[in-house]
Amino acid sequence: MGMVSEKKSTISYVKWDRGANREFSEEVTVLRMDNGKITYAMGITEEGYLLHCYYGRAIGEDDISYLMRLSDHPFTPNGNNRDRLIFMDSRLFEFPCPGTGDYREPCLMVLDEDGMSTCDLRFKEYRTMKGKPQLRQKGVSCIPATYANASEAETLVVTMEDTHCDILVELTYTMFKDMPVITRSARVINRGYNDIRIQQFMSGCVEWDYSNFEMITLNGNWARERAISRVPLHSGKQSVDSRRGISSHQHNPFIALVDPHATEETGEAYGFNLVYSGNFLAQAEVSTSGYTRVVMGINPYDFSWLLRPEEDLTAPELVMVYSDAGIGAMSRTFHDLYRGHLIRGQWKDKMRPVLINNWEGTYFNFDEEKIYAIAESASKLGIEMLVLDDGWFGKRNYDDCSLGDWYVNEEKLKGGLKPLVDRINALGMKFGLWFEPEMVSPDSDLFRAHPDWAIQIIGRDMTQAREQYVLDYSNPEVRENVYGQIRAILDNANVEYIKWDMNRALSEVGSTTLPRKRQRELWHRYVLGVYEVMDRLTTDYPYLLLEGCSSGGARFDPGMLYFAPQIWASDDTDAIERLKIQHGTSICYPVSTMGAHVSDCPNHAIGRTTPFATRGDVAMVGTFGYELDVTRIPEADREAIPGQIEKFKKFNPLVRTGDQYRLGNLFEDDSFDAWMFVAKDKSEAVFTFVQILNRPSMPSRRILLRGLDPERTYRNEDTGEVRLGATWMTGGVIVGAFGDFASRTMHFTAV
Ligand code: DGJ
Repeated sequence: MGMVSEKKSTISYVKWDRGANREFSEEVTVLRMDNGKITYAMGITEEGYLLHCYYGRAIGEDDISYLMRLSDHPFTPNGNNRDRLIFMDSRLFEFPCPGTGDYREPCLMVLDEDGMSTCDLRFKEYRTMKGKPQLRQKGVSCIPATYANASEAETLVVTMEDTHCDILVELTYTMFKDMPVITRSARVINRGYNDIRIQQFMSGCVEWDYSNFEMITLNGNWARERAISRVPLHSGKQSVDSRRGISSHQHNPFIALVDPHATEETGEAYGFNLVYSGNFLAQAEVSTSGYTRVVMGINPYDFSWLLRPEEDLTAPELVMVYSDAGIGAMSRTFHDLYRGHLIRGQWKDKMRPVLINNWEGTYFNFDEEKIYAIAESASKLGIEMLVLDDGWFGKRNYDDCSLGDWYVNEEKLKGGLKPLVDRINALGMKFGLWFEPEMVSPDSDLFRAHPDWAIQIIGRDMTQAREQYVLDYSNPEVRENVYGQIRAILDNANVEYIKWDMNRALSEVGSTTLPRKRQRELWHRYVLGVYEVMDRLTTDYPYLLLEGCSSGGARFDPGMLYFAPQIWASDDTDAIERLKIQHGTSICYPVSTMGAHVSDCPNHAIGRTTPFATRGDVAMVGTFGYELDVTRIPEADREAIPGQIEKFKKFNPLVRTGDQYRLGNLFEDDSFDAWMFVAKDKSEAVFTFVQILNRPSMPSRRILLRGLDPERTYRNEDTGEVRLGATWMTGGVIVGAFGDFASRTMHFTAV
């Protein structure tokens, strides 16, 4: 049997009717998706309303239509079978719309040709299919989303219609086999003869008939991204969003609703993550009935999309993960999903080259000999790739010019890029290069030739940030030009890695080419334009390793992960600050996708000095590399590099493919952090402990391990102790480290 099933049920109920009881009954069709781990169910009423019925732990095959609470009396006495206004506001809906009595947040707001905004979606039909179709929209070449073949998932598409404004809405649900995961998307199609406007279009909605939850969000700023906040839900709306054009440092497109008692290992957690890199809204609303509605999608703020007859608009994919075994299990499901069904390309399952990036080593102050000297020294230590960061192009010696002029600054790199790359390749090293393709400096040839290519509102001042403007990626000419310049570089020299940076938020959001009626589409068209170029780049150069970046980690989201199998997590490379960033990031993203480098001390972002070994132990759960001038660091640090690389290579397969367990939580106890990665077959594990400040007269610490097979025996390869998995997990490991910011790693192998 497939994962989707249909069942008709008759619900009988009694209504209070001016003092007399009257009996009613109605037939509902329940559409269910079950995979043995979770059940998701919705019901279609006789009038064609699509109600939410159930989402959570697999519930068995019983009739669950009663969960729709159709037999609840209206709150106020009335003589109707169904007081529609009250019904709409007190029911759980799959895709709520405004205007007919549901006063909570809608998923869809349409303005019809008369300027009316009421929308009344009714069920039309459904279909199912094996696997997972790609998200599509006319004229859009690529919408990032998770993927699955016919044996890995099943999809339900429910079509709704509003006959008054002649729209169809397709709601797509994919359930993954063996994983507590459902992905959602929605597509609206104008079937009429008139233009309409989409004012709000969320990717999905989930409702509960209770509100006893806490909400987890990931928030921050430059250099302190994705810090965890966890607060109880309260009556009314609570949300995180972005209005910056990028998913942002400030809030990640992620929320989780968790049982107030949920821990890493126990309790229910519902995670939501949007596969989108632009303005988003993630909102939980507790109604006065005590019900909870979560909606998530493109931010309705400043959004308006003209839909002409036969045109369609597709909402980004919403990934929903359920766990009844705590927040840790929710995270591990996200990790498995993204590693197996989101990240693409040749690097997906491969260990990444250990790189050295010159940014913190030299900033803009380099020439070809300096870069070669770093590469030469690095190659002797076992580093495998040199990444040349900002400053190699145009006349750029500072961050005040040349973005958009993607040709080599030959005053700095004499002879051009190719001879340098060839020399570095001759050392046995790969070569990688930094670009910021979405930007233009006012002082650039590109801007002088095409001032209209920057996002702007004619007649208004253009706000600069880092002395740069944002290019209008909704304009195909802009995309063609920038991509052409990138191609020219890639076709000229053996560049095997690109760091795609994006260093400012959008402002004065207007396009010189979009028609007046489509100006408010720019936010979303910008993101689609970026996706198109990233898709072309990774298709035309399949060997290329793409690293996403946005002023550190301002665009660490699943949309980017689809194109870039790794993303620079933060400009804060301090090992201790990185612990929090890593912990928060790992809530929904695999840390093995996190760009993480060992940098020099005192740290450039925070001024802290930490042991070189700790910097290595922390960075090696990410993609691992160095961000320093290796010719100028202390000899002892340089000598430690080959050993660090050996350790990274030993444990990276475990980190990349294993299960992560967070054992510490600096947001609650800032005295230490610890984590482990356990092989899927439970044959080995690596444990890392990082002490924050050391204290005198304190005993060593006992930390309970997780994820081992309780019945197998494991040897701690670092101490020689041999114990049952159950003992390591209930008795724990005794660990201490001498000195502030010291770290320890331990390797456990099944014997
Ligand atoms: C911001 C990035 O996060 C840094 O790593 C570096 O590439 C700079 N931009 C260069 O301008």
